[in-house]
Amino acid sequence: MSMNYAFGFSLFLLVLVGLNIYFFYTLNTKAIKPSTFNVPSLKLDLTTSVFKDIYEYLNYLPSQYRVKNQKFIPIQKNLLSSFHTNSTTDSKRIWEEAETWSSEESLFPHKNGASGQILRAIQSSQIALVDNAPKGTQLKLLLVLEGNKKLYFKPKRYQLEHVINGNIYAGFDRHNSEVFAYYLAMVLNYKWIPPSTIRRIHIDKDIIPSATLGLRKTMIKNESGSLCIYGKCLYCKMNETICPDKNGEIEGAAILYLNKQFRTHKSPWRRSYTHKKMEWEIDNDFCKKVSGSLSTKRLLNLIDVAIFDFLIQNGDRHRYEVYKDQIVLLDNGKGLGNPLVDELDILAPLYQCCIVSSSTWQNLELLSGGSLSETIKLLSAFQGSKLATEDHYKAVERRLMKIYATVQYCIGKYGSAKVFKNGEY
Ligand SMILES: *[C@@H]1O[C@H](CO)[C@@H](O)[C@H](O)[C@H]1NC(C)=O
Ligand SMILES: *[C@@H]1O[C@H](CO)[C@@H](O)[C@H](O)[C@H]1NC(C)=O
Repeated sequence: MSMNYAFGFSLFLLVLVGLNIYFFYTLNTKAIKPSTFNVPSLKLDLTTSVFKDIYEYLNYLPSQYRVKNQKFIPIQKNLLSSFHTNSTTDSKRIWEEAETWSSEESLFPHKNGASGQILRAIQSSQIALVDNAPKGTQLKLLLVLEGNKKLYFKPKRYQLEHVINGNIYAGFDRHNSEVFAYYLAMVLNYKWIPPSTIRRIHIDKDIIPSATLGLRKTMIKNESGSLCIYGKCLYCKMNETICPDKNGEIEGAAILYLNKQFRTHKSPWRRSYTHKKMEWEIDNDFCKKVSGSLSTKRLLNLIDVAIFDFLIQNGDRHRYEVYKDQIVLLDNGKGLGNPLVDELDILAPLYQCCIVSSSTWQNLELLSGGSLSETIKLLSAFQGSKLATEDHYKAVERRLMKIYATVQYCIGKYGSAKVFKNGEY
């Protein structure tokens, strides 16, 4: 009798669970229809339930997150004016201003057209010396400009349409990701990032006359007689060269070199780069362990960086540099790999700690309804570059919704009083 009863009850439970799963899927697919959210296939591990919860919030996201926020209009206007320069810029003056700039709010001057002037100077200053920049895993050059300003030059490896498959850190750096990241950071009001823009340098006019001996030694003629560079770096190979295009030019991201002392730290949420799982991947209480050894300020800063990295899908920030107690966003070339993939675990610092700085949240709320990608397009247009395909812009908007949903998930779990942190720590 009681066995029968237990059996019946188990059956009932089983049906209940089945129905739950069924409804979860139908809810997802129904609410998803107009947009393009892909629910990740359910894997049986600890993060599954968190992801599931976040996706539930995504499907019931308040409608304000799907439309433009009117409060952003004046802010966008200011941003545009900081990048819009019509004057033929006197590079010397803007370099001087950048050199002497000292602020707790930003790495560089950015008001009244200063951002645009710096980018213009990066793009057009005469090159005095070209060398390999051997630090790091990827081919990059060091350009010394007249007046002794230095740039890193990360050459273009892929067409904008190229999709990187494989793991989150696969492939070469994407030069457009570096530049996209700069604009993204500026739109998010995150001012701790070196200015970066697309620049084209000519093999015969810019490189050969100014190349160091060291650089010349890492150049070879390819089979059609073009001079190509294989460079000097951890992963540099003689068969993986950079060659000029039919105009003799090499395109790349020109990134202002920061002549500053950084402190480097390992990211608590770094990946293992093997099949081994890191602690944060198996322990959803991981944040408790971390918060014991990091200040709230640093933790909030790491969460800001996670949000930023999630938007471009950079899963390669295994370490980070700090200047004036702020994380500086260096090395952003591993973004924009695959516009169809959103690795939610890049947001682990956010959904595991469930805190976010109030000002970050306010900025994110301003950017709803397409303003984020629109502004990046408008700003980059001043420098005349296309930085990403439409698919990538769509992906960034879709990921912004997932960030909103993750914060809603946190609010649902702990209440907004616990989630939003002011600068009172
Ligand atoms: C270059 O050679 C290495 C082996 O030394 C190989 O693994 C790699 O796939 C080659 N790259 C290209 C683009 O052929
Ligand atoms: C050599 O480089 C030129 C210039 O980039 C390119 O057009 C050509 O296809 C290359 N040839 C070979 C065999 O790789």
